[in-house]
Amino acid sequence: MPARSVGLAPAKAILVGEHFVVSGAMAIAIAINLYAKASAGLAPRGSIAISAKGLGMCEDGAESLRESGSESGPFGPLVSMVKAFLERYGIEQGVDIRLSSEIPLSAGLGSSAAIAVSILVALSSLFGIRLEREEMFELAFVSERILHGNPSGIDHATSIYGGAIAYSPSRGFRRLPVAGEISLVVGDTLKRRSTKEQILKVQDFLKRNPEIAREAFERIREISEGAISCLEGGDMEGLGELMNENQALLSKVGASSEELDRLIEASIAAGAFGAKLTGAGGGGCMIALGPPDALGAIEESIRRAGGTPYRVKMDDMGSRAC
Ligand code: PMV
Repeated sequence: MPARSVGLAPAKAILVGEHFVVSGAMAIAIAINLYAKASAGLAPRGSIAISAKGLGMCEDGAESLRESGSESGPFGPLVSMVKAFLERYGIEQGVDIRLSSEIPLSAGLGSSAAIAVSILVALSSLFGIRLEREEMFELAFVSERILHGNPSGIDHATSIYGGAIAYSPSRGFRRLPVAGEISLVVGDTLKRRSTKEQILKVQDFLKRNPEIAREAFERIREISEGAISCLEGGDMEGLGELMNENQALLSKVGASSEELDRLIEASIAAGAFGAKLTGAGGGGCMIALGPPDALGAIEESIRRAGGTPYRVKMDDMGSRAC
């Protein structure tokens, strides 16, 4: 058994279909090269200690946070997931987990899912357990459900598998072939919001407006199918147009915000093929799909509009031990 084992898991960006996926529609996401990292070591029997440095989770601005065994503190959902892992494999030994992450928190990039997945990879490597990806998917749901209420599963599916993923709750996930490079700029509004509240807000809107919901779901189905063809054929301009249409629908159902709209407009003005919010919206991040030669101008334009840009690439490998 190694002294410590390390797991790495990527963030994700949803290209089309967020929110509608919660009610059964298909969404398409890619894993991106921003990572959460967990290092796991042995601890006394019965003890689960989780600590973090640089996660930005501590409201008092402290750099690190440590928690032992509590299922109600900020790391409570992760403690519950670790307990579920240890119980499933009949492990009585305690564990000490140290976390770090370069993924902005509560910003639409699936940071909580990537952190959960990185822990599962580190634990399975520490105990020499061959954890199938399907089992990892089930276990990561433990913390994701506590945190987000009714998540679709797309965040951790994408982090586990990597690459481009089509996902619907009823049909599960499927890796998609991608022709060419996806050149993305992520723009962070720096406005934090709760995924759980955003999901509730949009689901409530859809329930109260059945006619708008019906039309939106029909259009989202066409958008997702169109996006799959664009990825397969390397038609980034076509994909950008579908992203713009998706953004219009997300605005209509109340998922966008002024800050997001500003960064989206700035990206389009700087030459992006398309731009939209990514994840739960209401703040957090947007993505712009650009021709490679416009990426610098898009970054600059996002910065001038008050956002923080990150240029990202697709991660093809998904979560892994390292
Ligand atoms: O904001 P994030 O990264 O948690 O993404 C949420 C995506 C939603 O479609 C709004 C919810 C979900 O679980 O699919």
